[in-house]
Amino acid sequence: MSRPNFIKDMSLAPLGRRLIEAAEHEMPGLLATREKYAASKPLAGIRVCGSLHMTVQTAVLIDTLKALGADIRWCSCNIFSTVDAAAAYIAAQGIPVFAYKGETLEDYWNFTLETITFPGMKGPQQIVDDGGDVTLLLHKGFAAENDPSILDHAESEEERILAALVRRCLRERPGWFHQVVPEVVGVSEETTTGCNRLYSMMAEHRLLFPAVNVNQSVTKSKFDNLYGTRHSLLDGIVRATDVMIAGKTCVVCGFGDVGKGCVASLRGQGARVIVTEIDPICALQASMSGLEVRTLEECLPLADIYVTATGNCDIIKAHHMSQMKDQAIVCNIGHFDNEIDVAGLHAFPGVRHENIKPQVDKWIFPDNHCIILLAEGRLVNLGCAMGHPSFVMSNSFTNQTLAQLAIARREYTKVGVYVLPKILDEEVARLHLGKLNVHLTTLSPKQAAYIGVKVEGPYKSDDYRY
Ligand code: NAI
Repeated sequence: MSRPNFIKDMSLAPLGRRLIEAAEHEMPGLLATREKYAASKPLAGIRVCGSLHMTVQTAVLIDTLKALGADIRWCSCNIFSTVDAAAAYIAAQGIPVFAYKGETLEDYWNFTLETITFPGMKGPQQIVDDGGDVTLLLHKGFAAENDPSILDHAESEEERILAALVRRCLRERPGWFHQVVPEVVGVSEETTTGCNRLYSMMAEHRLLFPAVNVNQSVTKSKFDNLYGTRHSLLDGIVRATDVMIAGKTCVVCGFGDVGKGCVASLRGQGARVIVTEIDPICALQASMSGLEVRTLEECLPLADIYVTATGNCDIIKAHHMSQMKDQAIVCNIGHFDNEIDVAGLHAFPGVRHENIKPQVDKWIFPDNHCIILLAEGRLVNLGCAMGHPSFVMSNSFTNQTLAQLAIARREYTKVGVYVLPKILDEEVARLHLGKLNVHLTTLSPKQAAYIGVKVEGPYKSDDYRY
């Protein structure tokens, strides 16, 4: 069943290597962690599979897990996010990797299955997940072995593809999920949406193995989600369209960590930004940051650019797009492609479609006005650009590596969703200070006692909000 790899073009490996060497200079935390643990190889022989955008930065994470001894298989967690040169570099290291930019959904799910299928039909012991699709496949397969009728309820095209894959597994590898799931020691989940899924499964008593919420580390969500998107949203829109942002009216749906980064990105260019929110706290934050807060319907006659950043479904529907200004640009930076109703757009009466270039599509309505949809409604920063820059991903991936080490040490044995201790979060930040020439003030013992912390930290309580 298992094959060595599936990538676009092995001849891209030298380019991948050069890109990865350049990225390493910007990833001090991850490299320091690699250096610290490389000799003791704490992941030696452990089967680790990853489903996380196969980018240049992820290649540095994979190299790190490999240096720590892990036996790795990898795929991307989005059909458009792979950097083919990075995938080729990983394949050239002899690491099984299944990813190319522009995968079909069938390939995507087959690759996810390949990634969890180690030689000898073994499953993974540890998982690095981004959005939770490996976790979903294992849970779905496990549940379907108990009751195959759960596969009859697929609503979307993607759910039908996943159901067909699981049915094939039930035929070709009967009992396999019940055999491999008990061997999973834990998963470390990268993003908000994947963590939301984990908490739902936990609440419904369906979660089958321990999970670490990496997103909850301050050095992840308050950096990657915020400063990462501040950089890469603009990069995605500009690479796709070359449109001038200054002076445009932009709508950002959702003012969470990602929404805040998107707003900063657009405002930095001189755009007028309007926010939509459902949460009064975030709406108040937006308003007191000087932003207008409106409903999407109110924005439709005004806005030139729309960005969804909610992690929620059905944010921009086809009827909204039909009422937008001519040439309005519509994109999503949330994890899944259900924020923008692309299926509804396909089915809209009289609509026509014209592909401008890969991941940039014009949709023309019967009255001849059009909208420009980026990355088919999937993450614009990874579909139309290269994702977040290395420095911020070093923070995220240092957390991922520490989570994998904690799982390997069996620190989380009961099924549940855990977060890394604050002292490690502070350590991740500390590892990145030198690169930015930050000079930290040291607490005196008297000061430490006065505010009730230790001189060496942690400096905040677990519920401090930053
Ligand atoms: P968050 O939970 O901090 O923010 C989401 C916000 O959207 C919340 O304030 C919520 O109240 C709001 N919201 C929910 N439904 C809404 C609706 N119907 N209309 C308007 N606002 C609504 O989540 P975070 O961390 O900002 O992540 C958002 C999404 O971005 C997630 O899917 C996450 O996985 C993804 N993400 C994407 C990244 C990328 O590189 N593209 C990086 C990090 C996260």
